[in-house]
Amino acid sequence: MINIGIIGSGNRGIRCYGLYLLKKKKDIAKIVGVSDPDRKRLEVAKKVLKLDDDAIFTNTEKLLEMKNLDAIIITSPDYTHKDIAISAFNRGLDVLCEKPLALTVEDCDEILEAQRKSGKILCVGFVLRYNNFYRKMYEIANVEKKLGRIIIAGAIDSVSTGSQYFFHGWWRLRKNSGGLLVQKATHSIDILNWVINSKPVRVYGEGGLAVFGGKEPDDKRCSSCEKKNECPEALLEKNISWDYGEASISIEIEDKCVFAKEIDVYDHEVLTISYENNVKAFFVESQFTPDYKREFWFIGDKARMYGIDPYIVSKKDKRKPYIEIVYRHTREKEIIPVKLNPGGHGGGDPGLIDDFLRCCITRENVGADGIAGRESIAVCAGGEKSIETGKIIELRRKV
Ligand SMILES: NC(=O)c1ccc[n+]([C@@H]2O[C@H](COP(=O)([O-])OP(=O)(O)OC[C@H]3O[C@@H](n4cnc5c(N)ncnc54)[C@H](O)[C@@H]3O)[C@@H](O)[C@H]2O)c1
Repeated sequence: MINIGIIGSGNRGIRCYGLYLLKKKKDIAKIVGVSDPDRKRLEVAKKVLKLDDDAIFTNTEKLLEMKNLDAIIITSPDYTHKDIAISAFNRGLDVLCEKPLALTVEDCDEILEAQRKSGKILCVGFVLRYNNFYRKMYEIANVEKKLGRIIIAGAIDSVSTGSQYFFHGWWRLRKNSGGLLVQKATHSIDILNWVINSKPVRVYGEGGLAVFGGKEPDDKRCSSCEKKNECPEALLEKNISWDYGEASISIEIEDKCVFAKEIDVYDHEVLTISYENNVKAFFVESQFTPDYKREFWFIGDKARMYGIDPYIVSKKDKRKPYIEIVYRHTREKEIIPVKLNPGGHGGGDPGLIDDFLRCCITRENVGADGIAGRESIAVCAGGEKSIETGKIIELRRKV
């Protein structure tokens, strides 16, 4: 039995991992503790995950001191990941850490060093690697080798939910999220790194704040704003309610004005990335598109692969993911149907946790490991730095 502690009793900790472990993995894993500084959230975790009083902690270090712990799942905010991961490795625990692994590449390296010393497992929350759409793209490029030698690649992240997800709350400050390349784009950059199958060597970026940010006071709130009924960005529902059957919770979320002065993360970025195997890639992220989707291009000397997942215009207009290959010499087009597994992120959420549990038992390397977490942050944090300084950032000085 793998005894697991969950750090952070929020959306990912309880809704994604906690309930899955309890309902589907009882035979191999047991949740022995949950930590969160927010007592209200802990009480819900206790009820939903059927825990005793001595299994909930407002202090994460106290949870890590538990004698019977084998592994932890870190689902606390991004800026807490580094210290918690290092503390867990120093205590000899296996770690599943949500993305981003950390906010800077230096912090990722400290985590990897602690992991190396401990000999324990580090799995990073790159759930897309366990979604059949992305697995198939990897296979086409690296196993079936249908594209030939990849020369150019690219990805565009269109985020229709930028205002709602990132600009009303703590994510809007670089010190908390590392910027939205680090916080959000880390997933797609990981897919580029994985399918290109090489290490990034340099990145150059342009970007800025074009729609969000501005001159409004930092403490201005939608709930008390005189323009709340006409502002399309206003967050009118300050509470998110989750119903778990046995328990429900209503959590108040931040409704700060998205046009505040203090906002210092970018709302659009364009990167060019070069790889050790000479592949050149581009990446574009926009936080203000009408639709929500991820698109990828991989162009080889034999064929071009294009994929789109998911494509959501509205609740009524959701299109299935697909992969298209066009062969250069014959112009023949192949459409590859993809069947997604059940579960969040097209089956990626259960796929990731299953792999972590399997590797805790077999001691094999996980599919989304710490190096992948580090290499993605190298590009994302490097991209943020490049936009800020106007310089090309070399990524391979220290590994
Ligand atoms: N893999 C993915 O696709 C994916 C999707 C969403 C979020 N995430 C990541 O998961 C993490 C959690 O996101 P969420 O949406 O569940 O956020 P959330 O706000 O719902 O939950 C975070 C919880 O952590 C608690 N917390 C704060 N400091 C803590 C500490 N020091 N120790 C323990 N708990 C602490 C908060 O009180 C909160 O209850 C973030 O790092 C986020 O980037 C990953």
